[in-house]
Amino acid sequence: MHAPVRGGPPPKSSAPFAATGLDRRRFLIVAGGALAWSALRPYAAWASRAGAALPPLQVWTVPDEAPADDLDRARAMIGAAVLAPSHWNAQPWRFEVDGATVRLLADARRALPVTDPDQRAMRLSLGAALENLLVACRAWGLRPAVTYHPPDDPGGAIAEVAWSAGGASRDRALYAAIPERRTNRHAYDGRGLYAENRAALTAQIGADLRLHWIDDRPALHSIADLAFEAVRDQILDHRAETECRAWMRLGDDESLRHGDGISIDAFELGGPAKWFASRYFDPDSWLLGEGAGSMAKHVRDGVRSAGALALLTALPRRPDLWVPAGQAYERMALTATGLGIAMQPIDTPLERSAPRAELVRRFGAEGEEPLLFMRLGHARRPDPSPRRSIALVASLRKA
Ligand SMILES: Cc1cc2nc3c(=O)[nH]c(=O)nc-3n(C[C@H](O)[C@H](O)[C@H](O)COP(=O)(O)O)c2cc1C
Repeated sequence: MHAPVRGGPPPKSSAPFAATGLDRRRFLIVAGGALAWSALRPYAAWASRAGAALPPLQVWTVPDEAPADDLDRARAMIGAAVLAPSHWNAQPWRFEVDGATVRLLADARRALPVTDPDQRAMRLSLGAALENLLVACRAWGLRPAVTYHPPDDPGGAIAEVAWSAGGASRDRALYAAIPERRTNRHAYDGRGLYAENRAALTAQIGADLRLHWIDDRPALHSIADLAFEAVRDQILDHRAETECRAWMRLGDDESLRHGDGISIDAFELGGPAKWFASRYFDPDSWLLGEGAGSMAKHVRDGVRSAGALALLTALPRRPDLWVPAGQAYERMALTATGLGIAMQPIDTPLERSAPRAELVRRFGAEGEEPLLFMRLGHARRPDPSPRRSIALVASLRKA
C-alpha cells in the first residue's frame, strides 16, 4: 500500500491517487461507486420521494392495558379513536394532547361542503372518534370527563377529554370490538335481527335521540327504490360527484398513498363499473350515467338484502346533538360487531331534500331531524379500510 510521503515527491506509480489519499484499488472502488451512484441517482431520488409520499398507516390493533406513561396513553387513546367510521373515510379529525388532556378538533380541510353543507355527517364522524377514545379510557379503568364545545366554535374544537385514574374497568366488550368493526357493503343474507339484539342496539341511543326500525319486506323494498333514486341523482349532480370522486380511491396503491377515502374494491361493484371506475365515476365522462346506474343498483340490492333498516333521529333539530349522535352510532356499531351483526350507513338519501323528507315519512318520524340512515343484517366480514396514523393527526405536549 502506498502512503503519501511527507516532505518528498510521492512514488511515481501512486501519483494520480496520492492527491486523493487513496491507493489504486480504493480509488477504483470509490470511482466505481461514484459512477454507479450518478447512474442510479434519479431512481434513488424517485424512491425516496415515493417513500416520503406514503403516509404511515394506523394498525388495526389496540393495547390490552393502558400504557403507563401519560403521552403513550394519549397516543394509544388516539390510536383507538382513529379506527372510528367517518363519512367517505375522510377522517376529519385532529387531536391536541396536553399532559392528561386530549382535545378533539374538526379538520376543516376534510369537510365535504357540497354533500354535507351543515357538517352533520362530519360531526357524526367526530362523535364516533370521540366515543372510541372514551371507550378506551373506560376499558383501561380510567375516569374520563368530557367538555363539549358549541357547534360554532371558531377554532373547530369539538370536545376535551381529561382523565383520572381509579375507575373500574368498563366497556371491555365495546373496546374489544373497536379493531373488529367494519362498515359492511356486502350483500346481506336477508335474515332479520333477533328482538333482543335489536333491543341491545337501541339501548345504546341516549336521551334526545331516537332509533326507528323497519323490517317488513314491502316497506324495506320501497325504501330500496328511494335509495336507488337518491344515489343515481347524486352521482349525476356534477358538483356533488366532483366532491365525492375526490374521496374515491381507484387502486390499492392510491388507497395506501392517501391513507383515507374509499377504495373501489370496498364498494363491492362488479364488472365494468369496477374495471372502468375512472370513467364511470368521472363527473365529466359520457360514461357517468353507467356509473350512476351501477352504483344505484348496487345500493338498492344492498338495502333489499338487509334484515332491517334503522333511522337515527333527533328531536327536534339541534346541531349540538350531532356529536353525541355520532357517539351513539359508534356504540351501536361496536355492539353490533360483538353480536355478529353487519351494518352500513347510507347517507345519500339524507343529503338530498326530497328523499330525506320521504325517508322521514316512511319511518314515521315526522317532526324529527334525521341524522343517520343505515341497513343491518348478516354477511361475511369485509377487510379493514386504511387510516392515517397517529403521527399525522396528533400533536403531543408533555404536561
Ligand atoms: C356519518 C357517516 C355517513 C356514512 N355514509 C356512508 C354511505 O353513505 N355509504 C357507505 O357505504 N358508507 C358510509 N359510511 C361509512 C364510511 O364510509 C366508513 O366508515 C369509512 O369508509 C371507513 O370504513 P370502516 O367503517 O369500515 O372503518 C358513513 C359513515 C359515517 C360516520
